[in-house]
Amino acid sequence: MEKPSPRILIGITGASGAVYAQRLLQVLTEQLQRVYLIVTDSGRQVVDHELSNSADEFSLRKILSDKKHPRLRIFANDDFFAPVASGSNAPDAAVIIPCSMGTLSRVSHGFSTTLLERVCDVVLKQKKRLIIVPRETPLNHLHLNNMLRLAEAGAWLVPASPAFYHKPRTMADLVDFVVSRVLDCLDFPHAISSRWNSRML
Ligand SMILES: Cc1cc2nc3c(=O)[nH]c(=O)nc-3n(C[C@H](O)[C@H](O)[C@H](O)COP(=O)(O)O)c2cc1C
Repeated sequence: MEKPSPRILIGITGASGAVYAQRLLQVLTEQLQRVYLIVTDSGRQVVDHELSNSADEFSLRKILSDKKHPRLRIFANDDFFAPVASGSNAPDAAVIIPCSMGTLSRVSHGFSTTLLERVCDVVLKQKKRLIIVPRETPLNHLHLNNMLRLAEAGAWLVPASPAFYHKPRTMADLVDFVVSRVLDCLDFPHAISSRWNSRML
């Protein structure tokens, strides 16, 4: 019998790095029939601001303004009647990319005042995968404590910090590096970035 496709929810918040979310959604929707999406109010503003010059074929800005995409199910962040709000219908994994320090703080303290925060709470309580891609610099004591709380609760912290050992040439290479690490955490097969010394295997 064929393995069912993973149910993955992507959360986008008002941290810098909307392009990471755009690329992750592009890769996932190429292979999955359905991906869930929640965007915070600030997330929408930052998407609008940061991707305004983007000529990418897969345009997150356009998807959010059209409020639709054939493979995306977009939930409003105040829709607590959404199926993913319940542990009985929790996604297999949630990725908050990019994750603001505000959302990170609220999730690390179990706030569930928005649907995105509630989904994170549910994913943790159901022992599913919560992957957080924090973006801030420098980090203060509170940020670090909140990240530690989340790591102790079982979340995966995948900072938006691209590496340079693979000799990136373009911004897309840098973005793909971070997105490929997220896909690895999801056990999602991909070939969007090369692996270190794989020819030696
Ligand atoms: C252009 C722009 C970039 C921002 N970048 C960051 C960031 O990298 N990290 C962060 O924690 N907040 C950042 N902020 C601030 C957040 O958007 C703000 O704290 C907001 O309340 C977060 O709300 P949310 O967590 O509900 O999305 C940025 C705001 C703007 C307008």
